[in-house]
Amino acid sequence: MQNSGVAIIGSGSATPVASLDNQGMSQLVETSDEWIVSRTGIRERRLATGSESLSTIATIASRGALAMAGITPDDLDLIILATSTPDDLFGSASEIQAQLGAVKAVTFDLTAACSGFIFGLVTAAQYIRTGLYQNILLIGADILSRWVDWEDRRTCVLFGDGAGAVVLQAAASDRLLGFELRSDGTQNQCLKLAYKAQSQRLLEGFDVGKGTYQPITMNGQEVYRFALQRVPEVIDKALFRANISVDQIDWLLLHQANQRILDAIAQRLNIPEHKVISNLAQYGNTSAASIPLALDEAVRQGRIQSDDIIAASGFGAGLTWGAAIFRWGR
Ligand code: UT7
Repeated sequence: MQNSGVAIIGSGSATPVASLDNQGMSQLVETSDEWIVSRTGIRERRLATGSESLSTIATIASRGALAMAGITPDDLDLIILATSTPDDLFGSASEIQAQLGAVKAVTFDLTAACSGFIFGLVTAAQYIRTGLYQNILLIGADILSRWVDWEDRRTCVLFGDGAGAVVLQAAASDRLLGFELRSDGTQNQCLKLAYKAQSQRLLEGFDVGKGTYQPITMNGQEVYRFALQRVPEVIDKALFRANISVDQIDWLLLHQANQRILDAIAQRLNIPEHKVISNLAQYGNTSAASIPLALDEAVRQGRIQSDDIIAASGFGAGLTWGAAIFRWGR
């Protein structure tokens, strides 16, 4: 096996059909379009309904990425699904493998909440860099609407459902220029989708837990502060590792959590507004999907072009955060 470089050569995305705008939201909880837009920038979000599942939207996104990359499902060696909301807790990547017919691909799920896509990108790159695999499909997908507390106005207005995918391929030169990943479990309480069990006695001395996951809880102000402090730091570190200066960045592609967070981070890094990719007005915070969804839209709109340098950063529950600097395309 020979060491190899990594190129990100295709993207795809998919979102559920149903769109709930802020007006609709204000029928559910005491809120307003004015509050949501001024505090977050979000105007509407897509919600999975009916037969739409994580694997169905992820499979559509994956097909788009494979088509753009010009490879077939048979070519895939590995499928990584970054998600916190699998259809099956044992993992949903294999369901996507089956739907694609990617017979030779190894599959697994990876959970790092809203940082999942960046963590997945770095994980996938290691398999390619070591020469083990040639073609990897990385999907970021979440249906957080399954776990939102629809009576909690502090969180329910923020999230939406979606999927994005990219194909990574072995290449002569390495186009993943630098990265940095971080975790801090001491702040885990800030953002939770926690399992809660009732005790069930099987036999004397065998009280097992039986329960379910509880709706999302978040300390919004803490997470906001964390993002503003940690994300510029981690991007700086990744740029340093890439030996790239801020001016060389063509696009800042942040996890789409809140327009105020995007604006403040861009300002701290001295990156002009026209380089900041934002689509959260239409989709809200789609967790692991937000970066590949925004990437795919910008590529398909012709904004991101081959060889452009992208600084991408994810942050969220865990707490986890990370950044990756890469050149788009072959
Ligand atoms: O992907 C994971 C990453 N998550 C994030 O990045 C979230 C980071 N945090 C945020 O984006 C912001 O903290 C929020 C958008 C969640 C909240 O914005 P904020 O400016 O920090 O508002 P706040 O929590 O300080 O609340 C201000 C007021 C409160 O009322 P009082 O106590 O001042 O009377 C809230 O009860 O706004 C109230 N409020 C709302 N009002 C109308 C909270 N949510 C709503 C709402 N509609 N939906």
